[in-house]
Amino acid sequence: MKKRIIKKIPYIAAFLCILMMLAGCSLNSFDINGQNINASEDVLDDNLIVVGISQLGSESVWRSAHTVSIQNAFTKEKGYFMIFNNARQKQENQIKALRSFISQRVDYIVFAPVIEDGWDTVLKEAKDAGIPVILMDRTISVKDESLYTTRVGIDARDEGEKAARWLEEELIKEGRQNEDINIVVIQGTSGSSSQRGRTIGFGAISDTHDNWHILTQVDGDFTTLKGKEAMQQILKLYGNDFDVLVCQNDDMALGAIEALDEAGIKTGIGEDIALISFDATHEALQLVQEGIINVDVECNPEQGEYISEVIQKLEAGEAVEKVYLVEEKVFTRDNVDEYIDNRNY
Ligand code: AHR
Repeated sequence: MKKRIIKKIPYIAAFLCILMMLAGCSLNSFDINGQNINASEDVLDDNLIVVGISQLGSESVWRSAHTVSIQNAFTKEKGYFMIFNNARQKQENQIKALRSFISQRVDYIVFAPVIEDGWDTVLKEAKDAGIPVILMDRTISVKDESLYTTRVGIDARDEGEKAARWLEEELIKEGRQNEDINIVVIQGTSGSSSQRGRTIGFGAISDTHDNWHILTQVDGDFTTLKGKEAMQQILKLYGNDFDVLVCQNDDMALGAIEALDEAGIKTGIGEDIALISFDATHEALQLVQEGIINVDVECNPEQGEYISEVIQKLEAGEAVEKVYLVEEKVFTRDNVDEYIDNRNY
């Protein structure tokens, strides 16, 4: 029997709505950017699985697609009662949301951790309350791994390695494998597992090449605006004296391209600077087609259905793996035409 304090009694429902509105949460409803919206309909139903979802923010096109994937998976029709909170890129907001889910005694907590560290205390509170925690997208670093049940997400380290492998092959194709290669990097949110993983993955392969030099790594927080600012900073330091620009997501790549355009510098096929990006959104894949981005390593946001499958297994009392990784491809001008039409984000 699942513990549940939510009953279909009007005055308790009204009380819960007020509590959730005060806590900044919403009932089963949010828009494409993951803004909290209060639902007016009566959605409290004893047969629904109550899931508290903490999305880390709406910083990128990828994130909006991820939110939509969750929105589509956790509907009333599919048997869920979703409480959604957008943390606006702040860990303190996520911790508040998690505590509010605990006090509402949800059946499951699902969250995309904005950064890797600092979750031990709140997750211990969830564990003590007997609420299983599922991580989505990014991972965390905790002393006690039993503080979360499973993770459905991306392999950021592997993404970083894929980017570096592409560069290795490209340099061989161009016969430049022994030349000095200067690399500049615009990184995602500092301390997030996506930033750390991509940095470690790319760095591990870069370290095996004495002639690859990572000149600088600047924080662009996964946003277009900060990506542009980071690029302007890099241009001040190095001008166009580098061979490879790595942007750890497409939004930052778009910002960087804007800054480069303003400085009259071009990237891509046939240019002096190669541009490597991550995510593979529709807009970025168009730039791959045009040859402005050389390679885009996919980060797959379609995670909602997998999280739902995991919850169904747990409901059935089945064992689950500690991590489920989504499939991710690598896009260059050679294969992008095959995929771009189906990309809806
Ligand atoms: O954690 C996944 C990363 O976060 C995506 O690359 C980025 O676009 C998002 O904001």
